Amino acid sequence: MAKRSITDVDLTGRRVFIRVDFNVPIKDGQVEDDTRIRAALPTIRHAIAQGATIILASHLGRPQGKRAPELSLKPVATHLAGLLGQPVTFAEDCVGEPARLALERTPAGGVVLLENLRFHPEEEKNDRAFARDLAELADVYVNDAFGAAHRAHASTEAMAHLAPEAVVGLLMARELEHLGQLLVRPGRPFVAVLGGAKVSDKLDVISSLIERVDTLVVGGAMAYTFLKARGVPVGRSLVEDDRLDAARDLERRARARHVRFDLPTDHVVTERLEAGAPHETLSVGDPAIGTRMGVDIGPATIETATEQVDGAGTVFWNGPMGVFEVPPFDRGTNAIAVAVAGMAGTSVIGGGDSIAAVTRAGVADRITHISTGGGASLEFLGGRRLPGIDALPDR
Ligand code: 3PG
Repeated sequence: MAKRSITDVDLTGRRVFIRVDFNVPIKDGQVEDDTRIRAALPTIRHAIAQGATIILASHLGRPQGKRAPELSLKPVATHLAGLLGQPVTFAEDCVGEPARLALERTPAGGVVLLENLRFHPEEEKNDRAFARDLAELADVYVNDAFGAAHRAHASTEAMAHLAPEAVVGLLMARELEHLGQLLVRPGRPFVAVLGGAKVSDKLDVISSLIERVDTLVVGGAMAYTFLKARGVPVGRSLVEDDRLDAARDLERRARARHVRFDLPTDHVVTERLEAGAPHETLSVGDPAIGTRMGVDIGPATIETATEQVDGAGTVFWNGPMGVFEVPPFDRGTNAIAVAVAGMAGTSVIGGGDSIAAVTRAGVADRITHISTGGGASLEFLGGRRLPGIDALPDR
């Protein structure tokens, strides 16, 4: 059922609280990657155009309920002002006098950004009194923070019940539409490409996708847990030994459902995880791996994965195919980025490394939907209910 949306309410002259996910990397007081900020601009601009007074609130990092100057959202206020081309008033606290004063000084069409919600321990405790303090700032509550929708926190859950009106923002609606489509009516064949370090992070999503996809392509370090579970020699590659049974079970289920389950057939191995370290491409299972570790998929695996992606009606990609941050072990991930961008069907990407890869390859604009949610998109596709969405009323 569709959620009540920001486009269903009149915002004119009203104070509109928008929960955004501005959890972005910041270095030396500068925003390093503003993808998430840009993704929230349509909602913010919509509220500005309607003559609302806008209050933006977000978490940044994990400050454990204490003030941490390095996790202040102040640099984000400066960056956002540049993107919007208008001033953004920064409130030094998200509740109390600083928030109230900042709001009083802001005219209709103006924007306030509140300080990091997680400087208050009540935020992560989903504390009702804290949520009420936040709700009292506004007439309308908008949740546009898809990236935080899997958290039952005061600003994502309790507040939705306490605000006079609660709706989804344009970004949240877009995320739900595109990711929801993968669950209900994906174009066929539906190919999921999953990578990343740990299979334990992805058990739910793999389990859910086995029910829905035609092909699963597994790469990255997590492939080694599946390979070891098959009895293949993997040298010193990263393996979660406590997940071998789970890996065997997933592969068995995929086979029973006639889902194609592709693991790497060749890989790049090295002794040391350093940029430019000596490396070699071997067939998977070649005992010459010795005590070396696998750090990227090889050319034959890239070719097979590219064929699968090319022929797909829908592709979902999450997670790097190798140690993406250490070149040249980023080749497999970059090749997948180019393949996903080049396929003719619907492409959906989630997770920081996959997004970084398509951005670096200059092909981000050729992806149908880039999800701003890492953990949230995986939980959603894993079939879990997201508290930040459940708390909002249906249309
Ligand atoms: C994210 O970066 O995935 C979201 O902003 C959620 O952050 P969290 O994992 O610290 O709750």
